[in-house]
Amino acid sequence: MKQQIVKLLAGMASLGIALGAASVQASPEQDRQDLIKYYTSKYPNVKIEDYVYGALAFDADSKAQYDAIMEFPPFESELDTGRKLWETPFKNGKTYAECLPNGGKMIAGNYPMFDDATGKVVTLEGALNNCRTANGETAYKLGDKKTLGVLTAYMRTLSDGMLMNIKVEGPKAMAAYEDGKKTFYARKGQLNFACANCHVQNAGVRLRSELISPAVGHAVHWPVFRGGDNLVTLQSRYEGCFKQVRAVPPAQGSTTMNDLEYFHSSLSNGLPMKASVFRK
Ligand code: HEC
Repeated sequence: MKQQIVKLLAGMASLGIALGAASVQASPEQDRQDLIKYYTSKYPNVKIEDYVYGALAFDADSKAQYDAIMEFPPFESELDTGRKLWETPFKNGKTYAECLPNGGKMIAGNYPMFDDATGKVVTLEGALNNCRTANGETAYKLGDKKTLGVLTAYMRTLSDGMLMNIKVEGPKAMAAYEDGKKTFYARKGQLNFACANCHVQNAGVRLRSELISPAVGHAVHWPVFRGGDNLVTLQSRYEGCFKQVRAVPPAQGSTTMNDLEYFHSSLSNGLPMKASVFRK
C-alpha cells in the first residue's frame, strides 16, 4: 500500500492546479465547474453524466458487469426490509412520510441541507432521525446497516431521477461549505493524503487493483451494496477512506463529517440521484 501511494504521489508533481482552488474562496458553483473542467480536460472521452458510475466510468468491462448485476439487484430483500421500516408507523401512529417534506419523495437531492435555525448541516439520515425523536422514538445509530442503512436504501429510491440540488445560501451555510471543502483538500493520516489527492488528481488512475473514482458524481447513489449485500453508507465510506490513509476518522454525524458531506454532495449538483447501487 505504502509503495503504491508513493508511486501515486510521484505522478502528482504537476498537479497543484485543482488543489490551489482550496486557498481562494470561490462560489460552490465555481468550485463544481472548475473540477468538471479539470476532469474533462484530462478525460475528454468520459461524459460527465457517466461520473455517477464512479470508477466504472473509466472501465467498460466493469460497467457491463455492473449493468448485468443491476438488472436483478442482489440486495432486493434489503430494500424490502427498508420499505417495511419506512411504512411502519411510529408508536404514536405518525409516519416518516408525514414528518418529511413532500411525503419523503423526490427530496433526497436537497440533502445535506443547511438548517438556519440550528446553524448546522442536516443529512438525510439526520432528518430521518429527527423525525424519530420528534415522534418519541429513539434515534438510530448512524451507519447501522440493519436499521437506518436499509431504511435509507429504500427511502432514497423514492428520489431516483431527482437532480442533486444542494443549496449554499447565506454566510453561515457558506462557512459550513468551506469547512467541508477544507476537510476534502487537507492532507491527513500517516500517509499524508487529502481526499482530493486521490479523487481529483488521481481519478481514473489505479491504486492496487482499484480504479479511483472522480469526486463529481460521488454523492448521488448511496448507500451502496458492496459485493452485492454489504450495505455501506456514504459516511461509512468516508470512514473507510480516512482509514486507508491511516487517519482517525471523525465520528459519523459530527460537524466535520456533515460539513464534508455538504461540500462533497454539492459537487454532484445537477446529476441524477439513484439509490441503491452495486459496488465491487
Ligand atoms: C489513497 C487514496 C484515497 C484517499 C486519500 C481517499 N479515497 Fe476515497 N476511495 C479510494 C478508493 C481506492 C476507492 C474505491 C474505488 C473508487 O470507487 O474510487 C474510494 C472510494 C470512495 C468513494 C466511493 C465511490 C463510489 O462510487 O463507490 C467515496 C464517496 C470516497 N472514496 C470519498 C472519499 C473522501 C470524502 C475522502 C477524504 C476523506 C477520500 N475518499 C479519500 C481512495 C481514496
